[in-house]
Parts: sequence; C-alpha cells; structure tokens
Amino acid sequence: MGAKRLILDLDLGIDDAMALACALASPEAELIGVTTVFGNVPRAQSVANCLAVLELLGHPEVPVVEGADRALAATEPYTTMVDVHGTNGMGGVELPASRREPVRAAETGGNAAVDFLLEAAKRYGEDLIFVPTGPLTNLALALERDADAVRRIGRIVLMGGALTQPGNVTPGAEANIANDPEAADAVFRSGVPVTMVGLDVTHQVQLAQTELDRWRALGTPAADAYAQIVGYYIDFYVRRSPYLRGCALHDPLAVAVALDPSLVETFATNLKVDLEGPFRGRTIGDPERLADPHKTTEVALKVDLERFETIFKERMLQALSAK
Ligand code: BDR
Ligand code: CA
Repeated sequence: MGAKRLILDLDLGIDDAMALACALASPEAELIGVTTVFGNVPRAQSVANCLAVLELLGHPEVPVVEGADRALAATEPYTTMVDVHGTNGMGGVELPASRREPVRAAETGGNAAVDFLLEAAKRYGEDLIFVPTGPLTNLALALERDADAVRRIGRIVLMGGALTQPGNVTPGAEANIANDPEAADAVFRSGVPVTMVGLDVTHQVQLAQTELDRWRALGTPAADAYAQIVGYYIDFYVRRSPYLRGCALHDPLAVAVALDPSLVETFATNLKVDLEGPFRGRTIGDPERLADPHKTTEVALKVDLERFETIFKERMLQALSAK
C-alpha cells in the first residue's frame, strides 16, 4: 500500500467549500484533484467557485476538472441556483476570480472529470479515495465507461441520501440524489462498494455561529471570507430548521469519514433509488437484493460527534490560517 490520494467531486456550494478546506488540511491523503458537477449551482459556477476557493486557500496547484453539466436523463444543462447557498453558491460573497483555467474535455460532449477519475483509478488503484459531494452523475458515467477501473478505487464515500430520516428537498429525497436519481440508482445497483454518508448522520453534525468568531480572530483573508460565507449558510439553516443549533456539516463529514472510516458505524445493505412517483429520489433498500448475502452499501447511521467536531474544527483553523 502506498500513500493515499484523494479526489473530491464537488457541486461547490458552502458545505462543499468547507469540505475542500478540511481536505487540504488533512495529512491522511494528498488531494490530487477536484472534479466538478452541477448541483447547488450550474457547472460553470461550480468550476469558478472551486478555482476561486483553491486560490483563497493558497492551493492553486490543485487541478480543477470539468464534469457533468446536467443529470443523466436531462437534455439541457442545469441552470438552478439553490437558495440555501446564496446567489453564487458562496452566500453571495464575491471572491476574487481565479485566472486559472479548468481542465476541459478534449471533444465536445466529453467529460474531463470522468477521464481524470478513470486515469487515477488505474494509476493509484486501492490507494485512491473518491468523495462525491454532489449529484452522482460523474461516477455513474465513469461506471458506464469503465466499470472495471472504478472497481479498482480503494474507497468511495459519498454524501447523499437518507435511510432513517426524511429528505431535505422532498419528504423522500435528499438534494444530491434528487438532482440525479438515475445516476444514484446506477451507482447503488452497480455492485461497486460505497459508503453512504447521508442525512442520518450529517444532520447530527452542526456548526454554530460562535465558531465563526474563532475563524475571524485568525485575521486572514481566507478566514474572513469563510466566516461571511458560512455565516450566510448558518442563518439559512437556523431559519428553516430551528431545531438545529447551526448548519449541517454534510460534505465535511463525508470527507472526514473517507479519511477515517472509524468515525461512523454503518449498516450494510443493498440500496436502490426510487425513480417514479412521489418518492422519486428516495434511497431505499432494494427488495430484489434483500436476501443477497453480499451487501454493497455501508450506510452510516451513527457518528462519533465529539471526535468529528474536534477534527473538523482543528482542520478548518489550519486551512484558514494558511494565508
Ligand atoms: C447536500 O446537498 C447540497 O446542497 C450540499 O452541498 C450537500 O452536498 C445536502 O443535502
Ligand atoms: Ca455538495
């Protein structure tokens, strides 16, 4: 076994931005690239946000790779801006734009994120960790193209879905799955082992406004910007879900679990996604594989709150001190 390499697949909104900061401050694996996808924002905005945030955090060397701009079944690019992440996916905070270009597909209709992931899977095999924190479109396309290469990836930990909790966009569906149910269904039913970090655990891990004062005290441009951006996200959460103490740390938890699986306890099962009717987008046990002793999805149901909180807070302070 060699050194671990990490790829994050982001629809860069606010919690994705925190996940990216945590990953950069994590010694367990080297972040070798960020692939992008539509979701919280359209693809172009996700790309621009990834480039700007990497610059802000002092990591312009990390490649940003363009991925899917629409769901598998969609005929037009996705254009929605999701309220919870503000007008630009960054709580309306304007970061200096990066002059860097993303890695784009050589041909029209290609997907550079899929190329990048498959190359890395072949090169690093079990040392590669892949963490999608948006719709699962890029992963589903990679499976379609070369399932054997995807099977070589050491660990896939996705943020999405809910098993014991209601959805957050409809009573049945969590946002990342709702944005491309066909892709998520293809991933869960592919037989490739994945860990699902869904609302069952991500709604348990919350960040309150008080932590932002510690960030502001660092006095760096990155800390100031993150405090404003995340402040917007916390306000939104507290207004919408007053039973929470702050915002949910969805995507940062997925990164933390990918780097240290012992942070959660999981339930092994075989999942599918409802594709029809009022529960479209719901992650649910696959009745056809209920009796199959070979389970391919580990669903995180319990999280070591204290340990995660410590790791998250330390790593954010480290990432935001950088400049
Ligand atoms: C997920 O949806 C997105 O809005 C967040 O970035 C997170 O990945 C939570 O349901
Ligand atoms: Ca996300």
